[in-house]
Amino acid sequence: MINITQRQRRYRINKWIRKITNQLYLTCDDVIYPIFIHLEDDILIKNNNFLKSYSIQNAIEEIKIAYELGISALMLFPIIPSILKDDIGSYSLNNNNFFFKAIKNIKDNFPEIGVIVDVALDPYTSHGHDGIINSDGILLNDQTVVILANYAKLLAEAGADVLAPSDMTDGRVKAIRNVLDENGYNYKLIFSYSAKYASSLYMPFRDHVGSYSVGDKFNYQLDPRDLNGSMRKIKADIDEGADAIIIKPASFYLDIIYRASIEHNIPIIAYQVSGEYAMMKCAAMNNMIDYEKTLLESMISFKRAGACACITYSALDYAKNIKKY
Ligand code: PBG
Repeated sequence: MINITQRQRRYRINKWIRKITNQLYLTCDDVIYPIFIHLEDDILIKNNNFLKSYSIQNAIEEIKIAYELGISALMLFPIIPSILKDDIGSYSLNNNNFFFKAIKNIKDNFPEIGVIVDVALDPYTSHGHDGIINSDGILLNDQTVVILANYAKLLAEAGADVLAPSDMTDGRVKAIRNVLDENGYNYKLIFSYSAKYASSLYMPFRDHVGSYSVGDKFNYQLDPRDLNGSMRKIKADIDEGADAIIIKPASFYLDIIYRASIEHNIPIIAYQVSGEYAMMKCAAMNNMIDYEKTLLESMISFKRAGACACITYSALDYAKNIKKY
């Protein structure tokens, strides 16, 4: 034997010592499951983007599986047929919007599951932007906020527990908080997408909801080079009444998750977006990585950075595989 002062491998030499000395524990409570809901009666699987979408009835069956696996919360998105889209996303405020019926149905069937709903107009607008735009493609802030607050109220009425504005306008959190409180929804929460970067990783999602935008979203989403912008936006959203902060994408933005968790005393939720999911799936399909192992490792990295939960299309796969660690 040579004389080694620190035999650190003692901590790694077998499974039980690794288990009791590790500082992270994987649980189903780490994940929030996103579900897309469409009007038709079939399960639609687009094999070019790996995402699925469900009719209301099929969504209920899928949520039953998630619930039985121990998932506590969902993130819901509508897929709106293009004939119902227009420049100002007016179907979002239509009382007959099928998405409201879907939320009610889900909540009636699963009163214990947390229903988070994305609040933005991109599924509803013909141009795919998150709100109203002018002829130069600039998002009109205040007009958009008014619509979003009304939409949030209808979502709350339908049964949503959490409103998650993802449009990156200014003042939306306050406007949503006000409208919720005025209507007696004092206990509905707001999870604000405060650090939402204008990322190339949203492409499968945009393909799925048909929201390929004219131009880009750099006039409202954050420039990936902007470190301080996200901290400023997080602070503003907290001051306006946000109950938790969502950071997206997750993998390329671990530094932002870390900084946010150090600087702000509020739950931080990471969003492993569609492009991150697609990268794992594609590499695995080509036998270049092991999907399950990569998934668990990615989730561990979000937790290490300081996230308390992660919105991930892999939520069910995660729940099924956490025991393997
Ligand atoms: C829209 C929204 C987007 C995503 C979630 N909400 C797309 C966008 O900003 O264009 C993307 C999520 C994903 O890629 O999985 N407000």
